[in-house]
Amino acid sequence: MSDAISFKLNGQSVELAVRPDTTVLDLLRDQLGARGTKEGCAEGDCGACSVLLKRGGINGGKFNAANACIMTAAQIDDAELVTVEGLAHNGSLSALQQAMAENGSTQCGFCTPGIVVALEGLLLNKPAPTEDEIHDALAGNLCRCTGYRPIVEAAKKAASHSANVDDTPIMPVEIAAKTVSGGTSYYPNNLNELVQLLESNPEATILAGGTDLGVHRAAYETDWDSIISTAHVKELRVIEETESSWTFGAAVTWAEVLDRVADDLPSFATLIRRFGSTQIRSMGTIGGNIGTASPIGDGPPSLIALGSTITMASATGGTVSMPLEEFFLDYRKTAMPNKGVIVSITVPRIKSDEVFRTYKISKRYDQDISTVCGAYWLKLDGDKITDLRIAYGGMAAIPKRASNVEAALQGNLLDEEHVQAAAKAMATDFQPLTDLRGTSHYRNKIAAGLLTRLMHDVRGESVEVMSL
Ligand SMILES: Cc1cc2nc3c(=O)[nH]c(=O)nc-3n(C[C@H](O)[C@H](O)[C@H](O)COP(=O)(O)OP(=O)(O)OC[C@H]3O[C@@H](n4cnc5c(N)ncnc54)[C@H](O)[C@@H]3O)c2cc1C
Ligand code: FES
Ligand code: FES
Repeated sequence: MSDAISFKLNGQSVELAVRPDTTVLDLLRDQLGARGTKEGCAEGDCGACSVLLKRGGINGGKFNAANACIMTAAQIDDAELVTVEGLAHNGSLSALQQAMAENGSTQCGFCTPGIVVALEGLLLNKPAPTEDEIHDALAGNLCRCTGYRPIVEAAKKAASHSANVDDTPIMPVEIAAKTVSGGTSYYPNNLNELVQLLESNPEATILAGGTDLGVHRAAYETDWDSIISTAHVKELRVIEETESSWTFGAAVTWAEVLDRVADDLPSFATLIRRFGSTQIRSMGTIGGNIGTASPIGDGPPSLIALGSTITMASATGGTVSMPLEEFFLDYRKTAMPNKGVIVSITVPRIKSDEVFRTYKISKRYDQDISTVCGAYWLKLDGDKITDLRIAYGGMAAIPKRASNVEAALQGNLLDEEHVQAAAKAMATDFQPLTDLRGTSHYRNKIAAGLLTRLMHDVRGESVEVMSL
C-alpha cells in the first residue's frame, strides 16, 4: 500500500506523495515543471502528451510511447519516464529532433513534442523502421498544420542514426515536487494479495492500463480514493504458450499480445495494429478490454470466435473458468464473481484445417472505434464448413455470436449460395442500434457484407482495400 510514489524522470529519481488518480500529465506540468508535454484532447486521441515509459518487465522492459493524459500517478510508481526534455544529449538535439528542425517538420509546434517522443519510442525499439512502421508509430499523433510527409521524412533521416535515450539526459526544468496527498493505491504482487485486497476494499477501482478508466475519469471528473493496480500481479502478467493454446494474463498489454500472435493469426494481428495507437497498445490490456465489457470492444469478437476461455478469481469463490461468450450477459453486465477479478484468457491456437479472419469497420482506418467488428473461425474440409464460430461487436448490447448465421453455414460449402442464405439470417440474430457511428440498417448490411468478404478472403481472392 502506498500514498507516495517513486519513479525516474529523465534519469533523476523522484519521490513524492500524490493522489494516485492525479494524471501524469498534470503531475509533469503542474508539479514537476516539465511543460514540454502538452495537453490536446485529454482523452488519448491526439498524442500531444506522449511520454516514454518503461515499467519493469512490461512490454519487454523497454521504453514505449504512452499517453500521459490518461495515465495516473499510480501507474508510474517504480517506473522510468522520459519526457521531451530528456531527449537531447549533452546540449545537442537528438538526431530526430535535428532532422525535424532541418526538414521543416513543424509549424505551430504544438504537436511536435508528442510526435518527437512517439518517433523516438519507435527508433528505440526499431532502429531501422520501415515506412509502414513509421506511419503506424504516428497513428496516435495528430498534426494539423505541418502535414505528415515532412515528419515521416525526418523520421527516415533520423533512422540512419541510432536513437538513444541518454542515461544522463538534460532536464532543463527544476524538479519542484509538491506533495498533494490523499487517496491510496495498492500494488499487490500476487493473486492472493489481489483478491484479499478486493475483499477488504470493495469500493476500490481495479486499474490495469487505465486507457478506458483514464478517459472516463477525464470525461466525468471522477476521483478514485482507492486504486488497486494489477500491473505487478505475477499471475496476471503471465503469457503461457503450448502447442494448442496461449494463456494471456489479464494484465498483458495489447502490444505483448500482438508480438505473440502475429505469426499464427495474421488477421487478428492486423486488427490489433488498428487497436487505438502505439501509445494505447503499450498500456491497454487484454483483461481491461474484457473487463470494461463494451459492446464495441475489438478484442472480444475475435476471442469469442477463437473459442477462448476466461478465468476469474475472488477471495470467497476461488477460481472459476467459463467460455468467454458466456461472460457477457447484458449491456456492461458480466458474469464476474462478486469482488472478483479477471485472471487470464486462454486462446486456442489454429490447426491446419482451421481458418480465422476478423474485419473491423470504422469511420477512420487508424485510431478509431469500431462501428462493426466481425470475427470468423471456420473448420474446413475442402470448401465445406464442418464447424464454425462467428461473433460480432457493435451489433448488440454485448459482443455476441451470430447463431442463425452459423446454422445457415454449418455443414455447407462456403459459396455464394450459402453466404447469401447466411446474410439473410443476420437480421434474425441482431437488431443493432442506430447511433453516431451508423444506423441499424447500415450495421446489418455491413455485417452481412462481411460474409462475402470472408468467402473471397478464404478462397485467396484479395479483399484488403487498405494496408498499413
Ligand atoms: C484513444 C483510445 C483508443 C482506443 N481504441 C480502442 C480500439 O481501437 N479498440 C478497442 O477495443 N478499445 C479501444 N480503446 C479502449 C481501451 O484502450 C481498451 O478497452 C483497453 O484494452 C482497456 O484496457 P486497460 O488495461 O487500459 O483497462 P483499464 O482502463 O485499466 O480498465 C478498464 C475496465 O476493466 C476493469 N479491469 C481491468 N483489469 C481487470 C481485471 N483484471 N479484472 C477485472 N476488471 C478489470 C477496470 O476496473 C475497468 O472497469 C481505446 C481507448 C483510447 C483512449
Ligand atoms: S492530450 Fe491528447 S492524447 Fe493526451
Ligand atoms: S505543427 Fe501545428 S499541429 Fe503539428
